[in-house]
Amino acid sequence: MRNIRIGLLGCGTVGEEFAGLLLERRSAIEDVAGISLELVRVAVRDPGKPRSVALDPAVFTTNAYDVVKAEDVDLVVELIGGTSPAGELVTAALNAGKPVVTANKELVASAGPDLFAAADRAGVDLFFEAAAVAAVPLLRPVRESLLAEDVTRVAGIVNGTTNYMLTRMTADGLGFEEALAKAQELGYAEPDASADVEGADAASKIAILASLAFNRSVVADDVSREGITGLLAEDFELAARFGFDIKLLAVAERFTGPPDARGTIGAQVFPALISRDHPLASVRESFNAVFVTTSAAGELMFYGHGAGPRPSASAILGDVVGAAEHLARGTHRRVPVGRPAALRPTRDLVHSYYIRADVDEAPGVLSEVTGVFGRHGVSIRTVDQHGSESQARIVFLTFPAPEHALHDALEELHDLDHVRAVGRVLRIYT
Ligand code: NDP
Ligand code: HSE
Repeated sequence: MRNIRIGLLGCGTVGEEFAGLLLERRSAIEDVAGISLELVRVAVRDPGKPRSVALDPAVFTTNAYDVVKAEDVDLVVELIGGTSPAGELVTAALNAGKPVVTANKELVASAGPDLFAAADRAGVDLFFEAAAVAAVPLLRPVRESLLAEDVTRVAGIVNGTTNYMLTRMTADGLGFEEALAKAQELGYAEPDASADVEGADAASKIAILASLAFNRSVVADDVSREGITGLLAEDFELAARFGFDIKLLAVAERFTGPPDARGTIGAQVFPALISRDHPLASVRESFNAVFVTTSAAGELMFYGHGAGPRPSASAILGDVVGAAEHLARGTHRRVPVGRPAALRPTRDLVHSYYIRADVDEAPGVLSEVTGVFGRHGVSIRTVDQHGSESQARIVFLTFPAPEHALHDALEELHDLDHVRAVGRVLRIYT
């Protein structure tokens, strides 16, 4: 039986769970795959730190480059996170002819094309299933099973921390900070949790998914993003009154028409109102779900644990077994490096919107406000007004309109004397 020796870079929240699962599943993997996996070296910042997994102290080092270069390491697992030194370490491992498994979405979403090319040049695997939607097998189906498909859309909930937080804030009335602290305790959040709540983590994931689905290179900076910071309790209350939940969504679409947009790609992350009968509304806690729309297979839904050390460890271990099998057979699976995507400007993307405005209670104010929307081509579907003698709160739900039309209407709205404040605008996902 071939013995594959693993060098692990990082043994933190995810790394120690991966090491534990590897020890737990080792003999089953020998049975099922005919490969023996051995963890021989582990790089960390502080070797003296207590770890939840029992490893021989002799395997630890603070020099990650020693692990990458070591002659007794056949395969490298990168779980440090961030772009540097992780990027240099992954590149060094690939250049040394060692397959790499990583869960690092930030790295893959920023340097993916260079890393895929380096892996292909070296003739080894670069696998990163845990980098998007943790435990859910999604990247491999997209990059293998759907390789011949015409994918037009990938959309869903791809961040476990924010989905968990939004669930707790809606169901239990938890405040933002308390919900975030609980998500961190459960190991869902990124080492820097602002990546979760400000949408950067979801942007990285949708960039990776779009690149594989559309065979075009999409990087995280190509994705326009808004996070869940700044949502108010009243947004949740008003959403509920209209039959909606609020979810952080990531959406990537390849446009097939009109002619000026054909082939362009739009990618966005935003908190959205989603009708309570939509399947995504029932995705709660740290679960994620992604819809992939294709021309022949139709719509596919992928659902499961989107965050957490153990679900992530499952995806990492699956990749390790796959890469080890390829290494044993002297083969590898190439990640296609598509041309840079032609991006559809965010201002041209079309949505329906929820808009909340506080106005003076005076005759003609409502028609003045709706007139502004009308002049910019934003049609109002529903208006809800309530208030006191001097002030009214108006909530508008609109028909679909391009973002630039809404933006121009809001600018004009802010200038009206009778408009006291315009609250956060949320898109409505249908
Ligand atoms: P942690 O911060 O918990 O762990 C990072 C590990 O890297 C620690 O063991 C740390 O050492 C080690 N480390 C940091 N810098 C160096 C360095 N220069 N040299 C050697 N070792 C170093 O991160 P997480 O485990 O939370 O995340 C790891 C990766 O997994 C990230 O890319 C994240 O995006 C990804 N991920 C996370 C998921 C989750 O649910 N949390 C899900 C999917 C992916 P020490 O322990 O001594 O400090
Ligand atoms: N912080 C990430 C999330 C981990 O909450 O989704 C899984 O990628």
